[in-house]
Amino acid sequence: MSSGIPSRRRSLGNTGETISAIALGTWGIRNENNAFITLVRGVELGLDTIDTAEMYNSGRAEELVGRVIKQVGRESVFLITKMLPERLKSRHEVIKYARAALRRLSVNEVDLYLIHWPNPTLSIQEQIKNFEVLIDEGLTRYIGVSNFNDVELVEAINSTKKSDIVLNQVHYSVLRKEVEETLLPTALKYQVTIQAYTPLERGGVLSHPRLAEISSKINKPIVQIALNYVIREPYLATVVKTENTKHLEEIAQTLEWCLTPELIEVLKKL
Ligand SMILES: NC(=O)c1ccc[n+]([C@@H]2O[C@H](COP(=O)([O-])OP(=O)(O)OC[C@H]3O[C@@H](n4cnc5c(N)ncnc54)[C@H](OP(=O)(O)O)[C@@H]3O)[C@@H](O)[C@H]2O)c1
Repeated sequence: MSSGIPSRRRSLGNTGETISAIALGTWGIRNENNAFITLVRGVELGLDTIDTAEMYNSGRAEELVGRVIKQVGRESVFLITKMLPERLKSRHEVIKYARAALRRLSVNEVDLYLIHWPNPTLSIQEQIKNFEVLIDEGLTRYIGVSNFNDVELVEAINSTKKSDIVLNQVHYSVLRKEVEETLLPTALKYQVTIQAYTPLERGGVLSHPRLAEISSKINKPIVQIALNYVIREPYLATVVKTENTKHLEEIAQTLEWCLTPELIEVLKKL
């Protein structure tokens, strides 16, 4: 089912930089030793973007990622973390909580800091104004958002003074396509990368009868079909979580092939 040599990387907004088409997630880790081994191996396989958040396991996920980075080397990882929206009330709070996260990660700066979801009690303009201080302070190279709808995303883009919103991380999978209606066209227009989280529906894609049928027809695992669907365009990337090295190998092989335009149309209608 391959149509040409697929690219393993995706543009990061309009920065000229790229991130791995598939990033490694760190939510809901059950066994830290297995997760450590899998994350290190993932970076070695070229899945060198790691996504974490202060919220995950109350800071322990960031600490684990810090240990992974020590093992593989800081320059080998594009590091993304996310700040809780309640921190966005003031620049002082933003700096304080970012410094704490950077201590847990044992790094001087992250590559990309995201607002985990919009704070409903503050205007988007106020949130972005306070969040942008992270660039001034040298605590992150880029900023972005997560769980922003199309209207919130445009407001965020229009609120930046010095930096761009380079990425929006949102729930998106072959079984959950709400973002295709208005968010994806908006992101494309403004050159914001969409990074799909929960692309396997936490295993849910595996028991979908139609996906199983397609999988046996084209002789490719459901996991690879589901991941290839959400990275099918140059501005679409994904973040998937595994702490199992066999699962990781299967995930990494997604990048060995890509969906035909015909199959993309079939999957769009699922
Ligand atoms: N911004 C946000 O609000 C937000 C929200 C949710 C998630 N995220 C990020 O996105 C990441 C991914 O999303 P997610 O963790 O919710 O869900 P997911 O990646 O769709 O699913 C993860 C689950 O799938 C299993 N899995 C992975 N590869 C597999 C394979 N090859 N075969 C069978 N099962 C497999 C994993 O189990 P094993 O570990 O046993 O492989 C895990 O239980 C998170 O870790 C987090 O970093 C962000």
